[in-house]
Amino acid sequence: MDRILVLDFGSQYSHLICRRIREFSVYAELVPFDISLDEIKKRDPSGIILSGGPSSVYGEGAPRPDGGIFESGLPLLGICYGHQLVVDRFGGKVKRANKEYGSSTLLIDDDAGLLGGVGRSVRAWMSHGDEAEKIPDGFKVIGHTDSSRAAAIAMDGKPVYGIQFHPEVVHTERGSEILKNFVLGICRAKQDWTMEGFVDSAVEKISKVDGGVLCGVSGGIDSTVTALLIHKAIGDRLKCVFVDNGLLRHGEREEVEAMFRDNFEVNFTTVDAADRFLDRLKGVTDPEEKRKAVGEEFVRVFSEFAQKNGPFAWLAQGTLYPDVIESGVSKGPASVIKSHHNVGGLPDWLNLEVLEPLRELYKDEVRNIARILGVSERLLKRHPFPGPGLAVRIMGEVTREKLQIARIAGKIVEDELVKEGLYEKIWQAYAAVGDDKAVGVVGDERRYGNVVIVRAVDSIDAMTADWTRLPHKLLERISNRITNEIEDVTWVTYAISSKPPATIEPQ
Ligand code: XMP
Repeated sequence: MDRILVLDFGSQYSHLICRRIREFSVYAELVPFDISLDEIKKRDPSGIILSGGPSSVYGEGAPRPDGGIFESGLPLLGICYGHQLVVDRFGGKVKRANKEYGSSTLLIDDDAGLLGGVGRSVRAWMSHGDEAEKIPDGFKVIGHTDSSRAAAIAMDGKPVYGIQFHPEVVHTERGSEILKNFVLGICRAKQDWTMEGFVDSAVEKISKVDGGVLCGVSGGIDSTVTALLIHKAIGDRLKCVFVDNGLLRHGEREEVEAMFRDNFEVNFTTVDAADRFLDRLKGVTDPEEKRKAVGEEFVRVFSEFAQKNGPFAWLAQGTLYPDVIESGVSKGPASVIKSHHNVGGLPDWLNLEVLEPLRELYKDEVRNIARILGVSERLLKRHPFPGPGLAVRIMGEVTREKLQIARIAGKIVEDELVKEGLYEKIWQAYAAVGDDKAVGVVGDERRYGNVVIVRAVDSIDAMTADWTRLPHKLLERISNRITNEIEDVTWVTYAISSKPPATIEPQ
């Protein structure tokens, strides 16, 4: 398989470069900026891209790649900070400029090669503090903007390029075509990265695995696709376990069971552990403690299952590429806002090797594989749901009563959004239950009842989110239904905080 290596200098857009390239079926991989030339050669890339980054090339400790890459003969494209590295390395000069952030018009001076076929000018997204003041000898300017004379440069006779703008972001017009010009035209990479091809090669690799494989499934897309791929490769040597922790959404257990039993014939067991989880959660009110409690109980239930139903040699997990990158590339201290729940922390005595068939993939690629493997559209389109489940949608102590309210109210929110044709347009919507109470009137009686918080957010990647401006009529219907259909609820509120400062889940 042909591949492009993207050296990561810490730009928030580094991942996007890989994603854009993979969208036109070429495999692109994000690697740390200081990867050695030897290691690069081992991977045999068709070309290298140097990403942007927050540093300044003359700054103290500025990150630099292995100098050998500039003489390697491999096609090279520097983007933003990468552009300045190219300028600096070949003897040009970089200067501090006024910070430029936003759209500029890029005028094309040479419409062959890198900027071929994109027209005479395009809107280009800039986000930089430095710029090329003098380009190196042996280079020519192929594009400029009002404020940046050398916004795109090319080396004479060699496939080395630098661009000040970001072709990977959607705000750059025809940015994908510019990346295509580099990857397909200049690097001559073959478009052989397809999800059908991935399934075939993953199944072939997994079929070489010896012994039993244990996979925890949640009904979510990552664990489902992990299980299906492994099942395709080794059939009944895979055992899937679904833990009903009593914190699931309305009808979720039945849906997940039906999907695995009826559509996939996977070796599947449900462990009914609702009582254990709810016992463990008794009296726990602190959000982080709740997450911890659910995580620990999960590990316990899971380990017991493994012990009774083993032996297993492997534990399958639906780890995705961004998780792999985040744990492997140091980008400074990323603060942990909430501890996310996963099947970590299994005891050593289980002696399990980890099998992660999706670790090279982005979420949208996993979705495509899910379609290939016959996963239902309903599952593909279902909103994200946190590992600790409804425990983090209940303020204060988790009780059966509050859980029941969260379940029914959540179902009402989902149903009404589906009816309105909005469900698929929204990142996430749900109902949470407050820990305070509010007075209401039911019939002729005053009642002190629960408060339900409805939340709906729009987001691209869950890193930031905006509260959804739902139509008032719809909010009214949701509120009426919740107070009519759930006796204990007297008030319904709508959460209008964005992320940041709020998070998507209330706990
Ligand atoms: P927050 O609440 O941190 O959530 O803004 C961002 C996204 O992640 C989901 N989320 C989780 N997903 N395990 C998960 O698998 C978790 O512990 C967890 N906590 C939050 C959340 O629903 C949102 O989509």
